[in-house]
Amino acid sequence: MSRPSGDRTGRSPAEQSASSPRARALAGSGAGHRPRAGSPVGSVTRGTTGPDRLRRVERWLAQTQAPRLRSAADPLVVDLGYGARPVTVTDLQRWLRGVRPDVRLVGLEIHPERVEAARRALAGVPGAPEFALGGFELAVPGGGDPVIVRAFNVLRQYDESQVAASWDLLRSRLAPGGLLVDGTCDELGRRSTWIAVEAERGPVSLTVSVRLGGLGTPSDVAERLPKALIHRNVPGEGVHDFLRAADAAWARHAPLQTFGARQRWIATCRDLAGAWPLLDSPSRWRLGEVTLAWSAVAPRPGRA
Ligand SMILES: C[S@@+](CC[C@H](N)C(=O)[O-])C[C@H]1O[C@@H](n2cnc3c(N)ncnc32)[C@H](O)[C@@H]1O
Repeated sequence: MSRPSGDRTGRSPAEQSASSPRARALAGSGAGHRPRAGSPVGSVTRGTTGPDRLRRVERWLAQTQAPRLRSAADPLVVDLGYGARPVTVTDLQRWLRGVRPDVRLVGLEIHPERVEAARRALAGVPGAPEFALGGFELAVPGGGDPVIVRAFNVLRQYDESQVAASWDLLRSRLAPGGLLVDGTCDELGRRSTWIAVEAERGPVSLTVSVRLGGLGTPSDVAERLPKALIHRNVPGEGVHDFLRAADAAWARHAPLQTFGARQRWIATCRDLAGAWPLLDSPSRWRLGEVTLAWSAVAPRPGRA
């Protein structure tokens, strides 16, 4: 899939995007408000968040995406839709500073009071992230195309039909070689899944990351799938087949539980690698993680 071309007209990103056909379709197709020209693209949703909640995706970004961030001409990273408190923005900044000390973290939120609250909370803190009003048009203060955009627990509150247009608009705002991470997790961040969407190629992978202690079955994560997949956990869809295969392998390796859930998960992933296009290896599996190619789980056309 080719990279969608952005509308580089000299108008601010919010102005360009809010008036584009794609943005109008996006804003008009769900329960959200239609943006005025210049207003952020998207809809205000619940602001639930918490410190360290997104640690699984932060670790994945800092470890597996380090080359992308290190080689970026502009180390601009956006935490889109950070919620009622700016804690995930500072968490992400901490992780990514370990990779690239000059990373510029910007928290964008569509709810104006949440932007004001974040600015107040971190006023005077040296090196604190920036906060601004913004939506899917990624209107970063002063301009700039982010190399990484994390949108966690944002699209889950939209309609499935809005996902493709949101990705499309976000991709058009990424820097060349940039990455969007669209994911979901539970309240404490113990079960998490995310889709990696590249600027040039579109969606490339699905990652499942779980706390292994107390895990019943791999498919327990089904209720935390991103919006693009959560309604596709039904027979005939790739994500359903994958979770069933993971459950079956997990059951086969139940005797390994004696040595710990980690050994059982690694054996489960090793089995899955025989039949599924896994993109990672035991060094990630031991963390309770597994990443597979998007092609294996992409929604089947015409089944929505
Ligand atoms: C459930 S909170 C998620 C907070 C944080 N990302 C987390 O996972 O803990 C979702 C937030 O996304 C914001 N949001 C929804 N659509 C948005 C959009 N298009 N652009 C920016 N923020 C958006 C909502 O206002 C809300 O504050």
